[in-house]
This record gives sequence, C-alpha cells and structure tokens, in this order.
Amino acid sequence: MAKIEEIRTMMYPRVRAEWERICDEARPRVAPRCKACRECDSARPKCGFVSSERGKSGIRNYEKLQQIRLACDTIYEGGNGDEIDSSCDFFGVEMRAPVFNAPIAWVKNAFPHSHFKKPGAERVDNRATDSDDYAYAKSLIEGCAAAGSVGWIADSRHHPLVHFYEDGLRAIKEQGGRGVPTVKSWNDDMMPRKIMQADEAGAVAIATDIDCVGLADMSVNGQYDSLPGVVNPKSAKQLKEVFSVTRKPYILKGIMTPQGAVKACEAGASSIVISNHAGNSLDQSLATIEVLADIKKAVGNEIKLYIDGGFRHGEDVFKALALGADGVLIGRPVMIAAEGGESYGVALYLQKIIWELQNAMRMTGCMSLKDITADKIWITREF
Ligand SMILES: Cc1cc2nc3c(=O)[nH]c(=O)nc-3n(C[C@H](O)[C@H](O)[C@H](O)COP(=O)(O)O)c2cc1C
Repeated sequence: MAKIEEIRTMMYPRVRAEWERICDEARPRVAPRCKACRECDSARPKCGFVSSERGKSGIRNYEKLQQIRLACDTIYEGGNGDEIDSSCDFFGVEMRAPVFNAPIAWVKNAFPHSHFKKPGAERVDNRATDSDDYAYAKSLIEGCAAAGSVGWIADSRHHPLVHFYEDGLRAIKEQGGRGVPTVKSWNDDMMPRKIMQADEAGAVAIATDIDCVGLADMSVNGQYDSLPGVVNPKSAKQLKEVFSVTRKPYILKGIMTPQGAVKACEAGASSIVISNHAGNSLDQSLATIEVLADIKKAVGNEIKLYIDGGFRHGEDVFKALALGADGVLIGRPVMIAAEGGESYGVALYLQKIIWELQNAMRMTGCMSLKDITADKIWITREF
C-alpha cells in the first residue's frame, strides 16, 4: 500500500486497482447489509439499503444521472493537462475539486463486522456503543483533507454512551477545523448546544439535515424507543433563530424544491444541499439531479448549491456542475472506502473522482470550473 501523501500523484490505473482492493477489504466488514459493489447503484438485488417496495428515490438518483451524457470536444488549443484547474473555494478553504463526502452516521448499527468495532466492548440498549466513532470520523476528516477536500460528519440520537457527534468534532478540531458537522433538527436546546460545540471546534461551516424528520428512527411519528431526542420541521423564522447562534456559514441539507430553496435563503442559509437522504427519508421523491435546474433558476447565485445522491464518478460531478451546482457530496462509496482503507481509502476514492472530473474537463475543453456549462452535456430523451 502506498503512503497517503502519494495518492495525489498516483496515476489513474493504479488508483482504480487500489479502489478495487479497498472494496475487497471492505466487503466482509460491511456484510450482510452492503455488498460493497464496485458501483453503488442502490438497485442490486439484496441491497440492504433498499427494501424492495421502498427506496425508489435512491434508485432514481442513480438512474437519472445515467441519462445525462458528456459532450466530447477536444479540438482546442490545449496543453499537457496541467492547465486543467478543478480547484474551488469553500468558505475560505481551498479545495482541489468541489467534491466532499456526505455525512453518514450509521456505520455502527449497520455493520456488525465493522472495522470500527471496539473488540470486547458491550452493546447497550441495542445501540452499538462498542464502535469506535472517533476512528471512523477521523478516517473521513483526515482522508478528505489528504485529498484536498473538506470532510463532513453526522449527528446521532442521544445516549450517554454514544458520542458520535462529539467524536466527529474532535476529528475536525484536530484537522484545524477543516470539516462540516451536521446537526439534526432537534426540537429542544440540543440544537443550539451542538451548534455552539461545532463553533468552538472551529468548523469551516455548520449544516443541518432538515429532512431528517422523515427518518424512521428520528421522526415524531416514528419515535420508537427509549432514547431521548425528537426532531421536527422548522420554519424560515425558526431557522433564522437557530442560525443566529453562530457566525459560521450555515448549510441546509435536504432541500428538494425551488420553494424550499427560497425559504432557505429567507432563513439566511449560506448554502443548501439538494438531497433526498439517499432515499431514506421519503419514498417516491424525484431524483436530486432532476430538481437541480429548477432550484438554480429560483435562487440564482444568491446561495451556493450543493447536491448529493447517486454520484459515483467525476463525470457525474461534471453533470451537476453543468446544471448549476457548486459541488457534490458522495455518501455510501466513501463509507465503504473508510471501512476498507480508513483515511487512505477515503483519500484514494476522492482522488479517483478528482482524476475523473479533470479528465472530463480536458475532454470537453473546460480549463476551469466556470467553463463547465449546460452546453457541455447532453440531456437524453429518457431524462
Ligand atoms: C446509511 C446512511 C446513513 C445516513 N446518515 C445520514 C446522517 O446521519 N446525516 C445526514 O445528513 N445524512 C445522512 N445520510 C444521507 C447522506 O448524507 C447522503 O445524503 C446520501 O447518502 C447521498 O447519497 P449516496 O449515498 O447515493 O451518495 C445517510 C445515508 C445513508 C445511506
């Protein structure tokens, strides 16, 4: 295995071979729920993230992206490739490309053989308090930083023995604040408290997955066990109050309509993430890529637009940028990368995406991100 510092200069065939090896390493650890497929499309039989009659939104995310294609044109005065610049700014942090991991809080409950299990520790109240959440968060934050990205971490329900969020903040603090903590939409003082903690950790920005209210184990309707912690929807006025706890940029994740995006602007959000939570919170929604152009039309350049759901290659990232997004988050593959190779795996996967994005830019005559416009893609009839 190469050193993490060598990843940025690794050639593409080696990156791909390493990625296959990392999937092989991850496979037994994520079984039986996840098969660590070489390409996660949500739709394979026995995919543990999708039950047969639910989860159509996650499948649609992937399928709709396949219906957009890139417009190759290499007749232009080019150089050796060094002139291709995929870098961007994320609230004052320079990124090598507009690609992030998406926050995923679930490793401990989803994967009984997780790499991040602490050997011999107890399970309490059927919560896997025996997992090393800090090691998982560190893999994400450190791996993203090594690839030149910014890592995101997630929040979890309250339990005296579960410190998932705090462990994530620790990893962010150790990385000089290079990370985005995601706070759930709690109905009590838990929300401002967690925002203040994120502020103290020096996070670049703070996010809330406002669509978490639809998660089976989170919602008021679905409140199901003894753990405290209820989440609820919030109006623009309520969100404005929430944001006032911090001076950090605030990102709202889980927006799927132009109206929702306009309300996020009214509330004072700095950015939104167009997301349907991989299809976990509402079945039968549109794919995220389908709503992107309308949302862009509604908010223009007023806020930054990020998107996630089914993005698996740099070419997919290119499609979102062409339709007006400022960046893309990738969820499950990065989780597999962390299981299979910790921070090295995460950095390697992101390097693969960055390489593919830069190659797509070269093949379409885009020297920088601003050149990636709607005329650089084909939207096929199926879309
Ligand atoms: C198992 C699982 C757990 C997730 N947990 C969270 C979470 O705690 N907070 C959050 O904002 N999003 C969560 N998400 C949603 C992801 O951040 C992201 O929106 C989604 O996974 C992106 O789609 P992709 O996995 O197809 O790339 C979760 C998704 C999955 C699959």
